Amino acid sequence: MNDAGLNRVDAWAEVGRARKHESAELHVRGQATYTDDIAELAGTLHAALGLSARAHARVKGIDLAPVRASRGVVAVLTARDIPGLNDCGPIVHDDPILADGLVQYVGQPIFIVVADSHDNARRAARLAVVDYDDLPAILTPQAARAAASYVLPPMRLARGDAAQAFARAPHVVKGELHVGGQEQFYLEGQVAYAIPGEDRGMHVYCSTQHPSEMQHVVAHALGLHSHHVTVECRRMGGGFGGKESQSALWAAAASIAAVRTGRPVKLRADRDDDMLVTGKRHCFHYEYEVGYDDEGRILAAKVDMVSRAGYSADLSGPVATRAVCHFDNAYYLSDVEIRAACGKTNTQSNTAFRGFGGPQGAIAIEYVIDEIARKLGRDALDVRRLNLYGKTERNVTPFGQEIVDNVLPELLAELEADSDYRARRAAILEYNRASPVLRKGLALTPLKFGIAFNVTHLNQAGALVHVYVDGSILVNHGGTEMGQGINTKVMQVVAHELGVELARVRATATNTSKVANTSATAASTGADLNGKAAQDAARKIRARLADFAAAQYGGLASEVRFAAGTVFVAGLTLPFGELVAKAYLARVQLWSDGFYATPGLHWDAKTMTGRPFSYFAYGAAVSEVVVDTLTGEWKLLRVDALYDAGRSLNPSIDIGQVEGAFIQGMGWLTTEELWWNPAGKLMTHAPSTYKIPAVSDCPEDLRVRLFDNANVEDSIHRSKAVGEPPLLLPFSVFFAIRDAISSVGDHKINPPLSAPATSEEILKAVEFVEAARG
Ligand code: MTE
Ligand code: HPA
Ligand code: MOS
Repeated sequence: MNDAGLNRVDAWAEVGRARKHESAELHVRGQATYTDDIAELAGTLHAALGLSARAHARVKGIDLAPVRASRGVVAVLTARDIPGLNDCGPIVHDDPILADGLVQYVGQPIFIVVADSHDNARRAARLAVVDYDDLPAILTPQAARAAASYVLPPMRLARGDAAQAFARAPHVVKGELHVGGQEQFYLEGQVAYAIPGEDRGMHVYCSTQHPSEMQHVVAHALGLHSHHVTVECRRMGGGFGGKESQSALWAAAASIAAVRTGRPVKLRADRDDDMLVTGKRHCFHYEYEVGYDDEGRILAAKVDMVSRAGYSADLSGPVATRAVCHFDNAYYLSDVEIRAACGKTNTQSNTAFRGFGGPQGAIAIEYVIDEIARKLGRDALDVRRLNLYGKTERNVTPFGQEIVDNVLPELLAELEADSDYRARRAAILEYNRASPVLRKGLALTPLKFGIAFNVTHLNQAGALVHVYVDGSILVNHGGTEMGQGINTKVMQVVAHELGVELARVRATATNTSKVANTSATAASTGADLNGKAAQDAARKIRARLADFAAAQYGGLASEVRFAAGTVFVAGLTLPFGELVAKAYLARVQLWSDGFYATPGLHWDAKTMTGRPFSYFAYGAAVSEVVVDTLTGEWKLLRVDALYDAGRSLNPSIDIGQVEGAFIQGMGWLTTEELWWNPAGKLMTHAPSTYKIPAVSDCPEDLRVRLFDNANVEDSIHRSKAVGEPPLLLPFSVFFAIRDAISSVGDHKINPPLSAPATSEEILKAVEFVEAARG
């Protein structure tokens, strides 16, 4: 081959390329199969859940006769009909599948109706007559704290000597903040389809981020071993954390009904039921106290946070831990004390949601810095920069992990310049001077996010790669596809390793009978972990093929090259498929497993110190808003975001993730308001009352760029995770709104602003500033 040809081969790569999502065309054509689209077997029945109408009560009696008599009903099942354990809790076993004598929130499932159709099951589920004996209910995290009602013991992380540092601090700011929860609002709701098989076997199709956990929960509920149960998920129409643990209820209920009736049973939640039954992002209440110097440097910080865990533990412990480990966000806090508690309330059991407590931890310090800047009359960007972690000093987190690749100073400088931050700040001051009603605001906020499950043993993954005799390749891995593009990335990794075009590789449904003991696809680690596992499998196959090629054609196995669908061996070239066919005839194993466990992680839960994260991802965004100070309405005018995806595996997918997370996080902080009535019923349980962002809420001018920065850790092709961290970027929207509000008082008054900053909340804040201004 000539030099040009060799260069082409050297430059060949399948990773790092913008490739469309492997299901993009199926998605837009409506041909992608979701769980509810799977062709139903003859005899399939449909289930619905009967829900508690009370927040906290003893159930004295239930009359299920009207349910049984309803049209099409085949069976009605209560806790007593569960063959095995009545539990679907992921960590602490305090989560009954069906309430047994005690209901703990409005919406808690009490019984399962199985009928001949979805509608008949739903209609019947409403006909039960339940006799309740009401008990006192706790509905808010503050009330939980006042009653010392917790699902887990409170946690504390301290470094330095906060008390002494406060004594030395020239200024102290003290206050409270409330940040609301958020419904995951996956477009495809919770759904499971359970098919009983021979000899106690059970196959469950389930929309879940965690097939292995579904397998365990179903096996326990049915009194079976894991090997009896297979759980399969080709894709989800979104999970966002809401299907990390909480798909278990649906998988278990469908399986119980399938065992009891001996027929396939599908359980698909209606949207209102889905929202009433399942947990959401935890709301947090904070009390903070921060000491700082004349320039705005933080000298001492104390925060006490309490979350609304709901009635059971679910993932509230790890969520609170992540909140504690992200209170620092991008800033060095020398003397700090962080407390967190998970308030036990008579509401849905809150769970994972994109960011998993990280956003809730970090927003508190951003709120405080915003206050400090206003008190000192400085631009908040300058105060943020002053407090940033250092590169070689002031670079250890409160939990003791050294930050070795802090790129925030460069990243912020780049974004500040590209977004024209200073000139726009001046223009906005000018604009506001002449505009009494419409006020503009601007904010730049940074993010740092730790990547790894904060439960060390979860950081492992497996994969299975098959090369067929025709040279086509099938990859299966433990991760689940929820729209984030994990399959595309893993396929790219495998194609890259074997030197073939992406079209030759196909990914199959996640299935517990293929890769065992998988972790949830969560903590943004899906591509990191499963990409490495698939790479390991592909490398084993490539090594066998290289050995075979060298033996066949001469030269060293280590010099055999695979690129662009071609194998280069001893000066010869041959198509990949041809080598594969020859290797098969020579009885070479053409498939392999692969495994990966993230190295270097450790965590001491008692002291809350260690190295919980493999690395940190960084980013920042600038948002500009205009607020109508008479109505509280506002509009996002422009966003500039810069995100460090390391050496991106797929820039177009990563940019899509940043955009999606930004808009989703903006919804959390602005329009999405969960509201429970005084009796504890969630009243915002449908899109009619719960406002997620629409296309019209997206800024016309949205500029997302990736910051080029190879990961210092040996991650998959030096990429960085992208799934969750960008959810922190729309902090800039929240603080731009606060900036616009504060312009009403010449930026001298700190408007108290809770999240979500709904129009109502914005108006209240404007009125506060007007009253304080006099
Ligand atoms: N993107 C889409 N389209 N749909 C989703 O449900 N979930 C997010 C994020 N991006 C989600 C998504 C969450 S909560 C996580 S943890 C990651 O994707 C999980 O995928 P990954 O680890 O493969 O990035
Ligand atoms: N993210 C998501 N799920 C988890 C985590 C996490 O950090 N830790 C344990 N489960
Ligand atoms: Mo994501 S909240 O870790 O599923």
